[in-house]
Amino acid sequence: MQTIGVIGAGQMGAGIAQVSAQAGYQVLLSDVDLARAEAGKAGIAKQLARAVEKGKLQPDARDAALARIEPVASVAAMGRCALVIEAATEREEIKRAIFATVGKVLGADAALASNTSSIPITRLAQASPDPARFIGVHFFNPVPVMGLIEVIRGLATSDATVAVIEAYATALGKQMVRANDAPGFIVNRVLMPMINEACFALGEGVATIRDIDLACQLGLNHPMGPLTLADFIGLDTCLEITRVLFEGTGDPKFRPAPLLVKYVEAGWYGRKTGRGFYDYSGETPEPTR
Ligand code: CAA
Repeated sequence: MQTIGVIGAGQMGAGIAQVSAQAGYQVLLSDVDLARAEAGKAGIAKQLARAVEKGKLQPDARDAALARIEPVASVAAMGRCALVIEAATEREEIKRAIFATVGKVLGADAALASNTSSIPITRLAQASPDPARFIGVHFFNPVPVMGLIEVIRGLATSDATVAVIEAYATALGKQMVRANDAPGFIVNRVLMPMINEACFALGEGVATIRDIDLACQLGLNHPMGPLTLADFIGLDTCLEITRVLFEGTGDPKFRPAPLLVKYVEAGWYGRKTGRGFYDYSGETPEPTR
């Protein structure tokens, strides 16, 4: 089986490494240093242990998947990878610096993919070693649960590179959708205006946090209400993507809700900071207003 490189061992990178290893790929996992890459693998071990406890995974399948994940100190080890997926922090300068380093080792036929949720693929491709072999591969959180991969073709992406991702998505058992390189691609183009509108509705006093969420959860049969989902994604990320939609289209319909901006300015990013629209300090999340 091929070797895949995953750059970034946070929530998304670890999820991508996990599902790749479970699909049979050898995985090299890197982060800013070896300790973080190893911490990412430890998190995957916990996820897999939970699946074993629930009887959803056999212990030998867990052991085999874990044995296929090798934390590495840097991307310099990724020269033998057929596909390298970058899932680092959503900041363009960080991704550009990573691509410059990958460029020094990437194999002549290897593809380089970014899990960016909002940065234009055609622009990012300019920082990659070969724009024809560069592509957007957008996973959804939690990666092991969500059945979708959104594939974004830059202007220069070759058919061969798309085919590499098609084969990979099939091996992972995920459905693939193709999006053109437009702000927010498909999912965030549709999702972020909903979350943003929920923030406008809350800010205008239309309803409480609980009622906005319950209305969408039960009235639309969504697994989570939009404010719970915003906390889950991270309000900073939601604001960042909404700004990309606003700036990328110039359309005022995408302007960020003032309340969303305020929460981010307050450092209330959602689950990851312990407070967003809900307070996560207790046993169960409590609405904050
Ligand atoms: N990793 C792995 N598995 C997880 C998980 C995680 N982080 N969180 C939950 N699960 C699994 C559970 O183990 C459980 O599995 P089993 O059914 O096999 O036991 C299953 O998911 C359901 O979990 P729970 O029973 O704990 O809770 P739930 O029913 O409320 O489901 C949820 C949790 C799957 C997160 C669900 O609420 C959901 O689908 N929410 C919407 C998530 C969503 O919309 N994600 C996309 C965000 S947008 C994005 O990612 C892209 C972007 O660019 C912003």
